[in-house]
Amino acid sequence: MRYPSHLIKRVTNNMQGLNLEGFIAGQGNPHACVMIIGEAPGRTEIESHIPFSGKAGKELTTSLQQIGVPRETVYITSAVRSRPFAIKQDKRNATVKYPNRKPSQKEITVHAPLLDWEITQIRPQLILTLGNTALQRLVGKNFTISKYHGAVLHQKILQLDQETNEYQRSVNEYRVVPLYHPAAVFYNRRLASVIQTDWDVVKRAITVHCM
Ligand code: URA
Repeated sequence: MRYPSHLIKRVTNNMQGLNLEGFIAGQGNPHACVMIIGEAPGRTEIESHIPFSGKAGKELTTSLQQIGVPRETVYITSAVRSRPFAIKQDKRNATVKYPNRKPSQKEITVHAPLLDWEITQIRPQLILTLGNTALQRLVGKNFTISKYHGAVLHQKILQLDQETNEYQRSVNEYRVVPLYHPAAVFYNRRLASVIQTDWDVVKRAITVHCM
């Protein structure tokens, strides 16, 4: 996806001084019925310039295949389009560390105009949020993945007002299906069957809203 240059300029300016590196654009079918939103790219994605091309990406591709959805038919992006890093300071040195840090609220807000723009361009029938960061970016902090995974929410979503830098509700309503982040299974194998059941919900929602 090619973002408008004024948005790139704004985000690049506002990113100065933040612990974010690289930049990858969202990718996929610009007419997709299904949009997938992750958290932030990792090392593999920053190197390959392909969203979800690392270990979590393999899980995502498998889940899509299992419900019969070719990856190239969807659009994939994330709340933050750069890789969060951390700096570890000891007595002598500052070293850059990559602990797969979650993006901060400020980092999410700096990148918000890009995601808002992608959503209004693609106007997906279904938005799949992967993990809490993407879910809360769209519907607010009252929603948690453990409570809402596998639900089909139909509501106005949060968009950043670029004048006030505050979030407000969209005019249009969107269908949002909260899903666990595909990497969640690496930390808790028992989530595998829950995740599969949630993807069955996605399959049914696609049949209803995308066919
Ligand atoms: N996690 C994300 O949220 N996005 C990626 O592109 C890769 C891992």
